[in-house]
Amino acid sequence: MHLFHLSTRVNERTLPLVGLLTYRSDIYGIRANKKQIPKDPKFYGEPDSFPVANIIECSETDHARIRRHLSYGFSESALYAQEPYLTKYFELLISRLTEQIAGPQNGVVDLVRWYNFLTFDNIGELSFGEPFDALANGDYHYWINNISTLLKFGRIQAFGHRYPILGSIIKYGMFFVPGFGKAAMEHVEYGQKKTAKRIGLQTDRNDIMSYPFQVLRHNNSNGMTTAEITAAGTALILAGSETTAGALCAATFLLLSDPDRMRRARDEVDTAFGSETEITLKSTLGLKYLLAAIEESLRMYPPVPVRLPRRTRPDSVEIIDGHVVPGGMSIGTHQWSSNRSPRNFTDPDSFIPERWLKPPPDRYVDDDLSAVQPFSQGPRNCLGRNLAYAELRCVMARMLWNFDMVLCEQSRDWMQQDVVTLSPFYLPMYLTEVATVGLMGNNNLLSVTSITVVYIKTRIFMLVDRRRSAIENYRAYTRSSGGTLPDDAWIMDEIDGPDVSDKETVLTFAKMTANDYIAEPGTGDWNQISGRFNWSASFGWLGDGLRGHIYADETNSTIIISLKGTSPALFDGAETTTNDKLNDNLYFSCCCGQGGSYLWRQVCDCSTGVYTANETCITEELHNKDRYYESAIDLYTNVTKVYPNADVWLTGHSLGGAMSALLGLTFGLPTVAFQAIPDALPAARLGLPTPPGYNGLLPQTRKNTGIFHIGHTADPIYMGACNGVGSTCTWAGYAFESACHVGEMCVYDTVGDKGWRMSIGTHRINNVISDVIEAHHVDINISNDQNFNVRNTRLVGMFGQNNHHDGHHFLYEYNEYIYYIYLQDARMVWM
Ligand code: HEM
Repeated sequence: MHLFHLSTRVNERTLPLVGLLTYRSDIYGIRANKKQIPKDPKFYGEPDSFPVANIIECSETDHARIRRHLSYGFSESALYAQEPYLTKYFELLISRLTEQIAGPQNGVVDLVRWYNFLTFDNIGELSFGEPFDALANGDYHYWINNISTLLKFGRIQAFGHRYPILGSIIKYGMFFVPGFGKAAMEHVEYGQKKTAKRIGLQTDRNDIMSYPFQVLRHNNSNGMTTAEITAAGTALILAGSETTAGALCAATFLLLSDPDRMRRARDEVDTAFGSETEITLKSTLGLKYLLAAIEESLRMYPPVPVRLPRRTRPDSVEIIDGHVVPGGMSIGTHQWSSNRSPRNFTDPDSFIPERWLKPPPDRYVDDDLSAVQPFSQGPRNCLGRNLAYAELRCVMARMLWNFDMVLCEQSRDWMQQDVVTLSPFYLPMYLTEVATVGLMGNNNLLSVTSITVVYIKTRIFMLVDRRRSAIENYRAYTRSSGGTLPDDAWIMDEIDGPDVSDKETVLTFAKMTANDYIAEPGTGDWNQISGRFNWSASFGWLGDGLRGHIYADETNSTIIISLKGTSPALFDGAETTTNDKLNDNLYFSCCCGQGGSYLWRQVCDCSTGVYTANETCITEELHNKDRYYESAIDLYTNVTKVYPNADVWLTGHSLGGAMSALLGLTFGLPTVAFQAIPDALPAARLGLPTPPGYNGLLPQTRKNTGIFHIGHTADPIYMGACNGVGSTCTWAGYAFESACHVGEMCVYDTVGDKGWRMSIGTHRINNVISDVIEAHHVDINISNDQNFNVRNTRLVGMFGQNNHHDGHHFLYEYNEYIYYIYLQDARMVWM
């Protein structure tokens, strides 16, 4: 049984059951030696009934002439010539949306409106030589509102076309309906006014109307009349605005509903361009994944989802898909049904851009991609196809480049709408600038005091190619093969880093991360960070995920990202408690936090016993994109996008300390972590690339990491001792079984020197600042050859956690810089 249309009501002259539920080129396409099957006048209206021929409804003869004249402006090369006009509005869209972030709605925008503003302005500029100023005013022009009104009535009219007597009543009666009559009159008048103005423009502008106007000026009898040009302009406004806006909404919505695919599309954009100006009509052709996502959006949400009926000539007999179709029959493919048919697609209701890639995954090789024809085919297919794709590519790339978007709750069912025009359907979402990942726009210049950060040359063994995409490939490779990368993938670089032997520097970093527990800079116990770092902004405070602040010096040449630690009621605030605990137990527990205690929160299903788990399963879990490590990578990527030439340093406390260390290890960034949960276990599981000569499963043996773990011996979390049945962490529901840190450890011996008892209470960053760093730290003496003179300090040493449980021995053996005292030679502190 074959269906052409499902949702249209069947009448006696509509062919109900013919053909595969697939787009039929033998209805719409060019037919060898045969005339095209004309548009169904009962749907479109009799061509003769229109006072002026317009491209959508006119007869075939008029159509050939009008289409020829209009086509020039829509070719690929003509569009490149018009690119400056388009770019003007792409940029305006982004800047107007950016303004909304700091606006009264705090970044909540209805994308339906904004995408419509853009497409109306674009097509206004290209057809009439000026926009509707919808973007500039942030509102629909009255003419656009009229179009919406007309479209609503258009549906009634289409009904009228099918039933002649009723149709004529509707046709004339509608002019007496207050809204419609006024809208129709204004619509016609405004179109005429605009065309007259455009004709009057003595300009060498190159836009889609240039050619018809040129022909008109030469009084060519085969050209288009002024009235026809007016009608064409109006038709283009109608055909080219809400359709494209709808496709943009769908692509945005579908990507936002699928974080992994969104990330892939965004990564592609991030990797492809160095700056936003590189996003052009041509360059976006290379965004294979984004293009696939756009095709898939058009499949799932065809902006013209209906059956576009054609009617066989009364005296003809057609063979369609092997079926004999008599004369006078209405036939057509219903786009939405064809696109969603399981006969044409595997997983038809799922958003799978990969099915459009070449080659597609095995599962989708049998998909019939030709079933999707959102722009129709043949002589009356969409004239604006190239323009629509150009807008889709460029706008999507710019949106992904500029914004982080989150769907508002009201948008969740956006796809469930069942009518064609978009106007009534809001698509609210929350926008933040990608540049700052949820920065609160509170870039206060904090008052300057005397604190400074001392710089020193730091040697870090880092990957040569540290682009995000390359690193993700490396990680995938390391995870799948357990292999190490070739030697030439690494370089030992010497870069500016913070001097952790300097007390004020350490204090500054500690205060920065203490601020991570405070949402609003400058309030409560906020520490004024000053000297070189006096610019601050916040990220993540609107959600329950990764939080913190970003600091920059006045010239933005050094940026410090500071990450907040766990917020259990036990330690600090409580808003992110649940998510923090989930991440804690995922990254730092051996076995998904479900092994030993009923208090632990089960965070994955990989545990196989009390202290055993399926390693592969856990590794997969860690790569779940909403985890903190992935968020930290997003954050870093975004920061570097805005400050491509800045040195980026990291800091953090506790969980934030561990995350900053993992991020630092990944990208080779100087990091000062405070009281960090031991991070070697997640570093190994995440498959962080390992330099030559090291074992990726023992990252704690690495040297020259640029990571400094500052802490003290009375903190059981930092010391990797907060585990076991009787530990406070276990009672609080945290399973911390990771024992080793990667990088250098700077340990204050508060147990040995001050006689402190090990207690979770000593973990708070504010206690560490006042009772440990301020109270203990004296400047470390760095001799000329920069050897680290431990004896002058209260720092008890820097030691490698691979020796963590080894015993009491310690040795001082110094390398040329303080930063890479050999791990195996470091002092072990007994607790
Ligand atoms: C994603 C966006 C778009 C989609 C899905 C789309 C879809 C379509 C479809 C399906 C048709 C055939 C209608 C029929 O057979 O009755 C059509 C026709 C047409 N479209 Fe589009 N369209 C889009 C954007 C545009 C744009 C941007 C323009 C121009 C500014 C445009 C101008 C036209 C014109 C002039 C026709 C009539 C062509 C003719 O009959 O020769 N469209 N469009």
